[in-house]
Amino acid sequence: MNRGGGDRSFIGHNAPMTCRLESPAPAPPSTAGPLPAPLAWIGESFAAVRRAGLERPQRVRSGRQGREVELDGRRLVNFGSNDYLGYCGDVRLTKAASKAACAEGFGAGASPLVSGHSQAHERLEAAIANLLAVPAAVTFPSGFAANAATIAALVGPGDLIASDERNHASIIDGCRLARAEVAIYPHRDVAALDRMLAAAGPARRTLVVTDSLFSMDGTIAPLADLAAVADRHGAMLMVDEAHATGVFGDRGSGLVEAAGCAAGVHVRVGTLSKALGAAGGFVAGHAELVRWLRHAARAWIFSTAHPPAVAAAAGRAIELLGVEPERRRELLARAAAFRDRLVAEGLEVAACGGQIVPVVGGGAEQAVAVAGELAAEGFFVPAIRPPSVPPGKSLVRASLSWHHTPDDLTRLAAALVRHARR
Ligand SMILES: Cc1ncc(COP(=O)(O)O)c(C=O)c1O
Repeated sequence: MNRGGGDRSFIGHNAPMTCRLESPAPAPPSTAGPLPAPLAWIGESFAAVRRAGLERPQRVRSGRQGREVELDGRRLVNFGSNDYLGYCGDVRLTKAASKAACAEGFGAGASPLVSGHSQAHERLEAAIANLLAVPAAVTFPSGFAANAATIAALVGPGDLIASDERNHASIIDGCRLARAEVAIYPHRDVAALDRMLAAAGPARRTLVVTDSLFSMDGTIAPLADLAAVADRHGAMLMVDEAHATGVFGDRGSGLVEAAGCAAGVHVRVGTLSKALGAAGGFVAGHAELVRWLRHAARAWIFSTAHPPAVAAAAGRAIELLGVEPERRRELLARAAAFRDRLVAEGLEVAACGGQIVPVVGGGAEQAVAVAGELAAEGFFVPAIRPPSVPPGKSLVRASLSWHHTPDDLTRLAAALVRHARR
């Protein structure tokens, strides 16, 4: 029992909450000893991963993250999370979650189709539809599930998917699940897409799918042009706004809104897990599209809904988008200035246009070394390596948050110049 007053709940607007663990995490059972023969291949596979410089450590975070994060006991200025608007550790979300958990219980208990869809989910879906100015929305336990399930629900064998070569893994897996023919077009190359669609044989249905803000490169899809091409070929257009939700557009709904091409985008995917500081994904659009997904999207039908507390926290974040538009404006203005400063200093920065600023490194080991040098100076800026990026295109990626101060950005820029300029 915690009797020490450590659980003092909510002390005020954004005041840190203290919460003590009852006991330290139990030690895992010993992992020493040889792998059983049927699993011996794992040892060999890991050896290859290690030789390629691609081993990934499991870091452990302590406490709440915001401007700073404590990883493996080291406090660093946090340029590694997707907490773009600073809502991840915001007590207003925690309060909303807590209230919903008290009213509705913690677990959702079942798939949304059965009994998992609570009033909090219902309110959240209405809030998402309102934010995107579309008739309907459906939420998924994760953005990954939203992409994978939606693609497989829209197309199948005998259909054609045209997918940007840098699309997120969840889109790639959705394409595989769909078992449709997949045509990969070069990154953001609308003319190539146009040619591919013109040359494609007859397909039952065609789906063009793209990220809006590419999470690894920081680049932005030419959405209006993609919508025009999709329209010319009678194709459905699906846009994943995972990293743009909350950040772009006057209302904060994303880059589709900012590009003014909502009428040409049929399937709008977003996440509640990044700028909105909660968890889950959504698909929004025509009411019949959403009704279809409730009948055909397997990750929605056969997976437990996310807890009502999560839905309530995400709903609160959407309310905050409406009353704190300055967060996204300030974030994007600071990101543009930061990027310009790096370019002026001669760093190779991807042609990015938002809050994700990748500095091109080259080899995986080089990117890891730069990330290590930045950590030694107090910055968490992760190295991004294959398979997240193509071989030879490893980078360090600074994800900016509204929490960062001008001084954080000045100091990080100077550190990048010292360590990443070749
Ligand atoms: C472009 C893109 N889409 C979808 C996802 C998956 O979202 P989630 O983390 O909510 O599962 C991610 C996650 O990083 C992403 O970058």
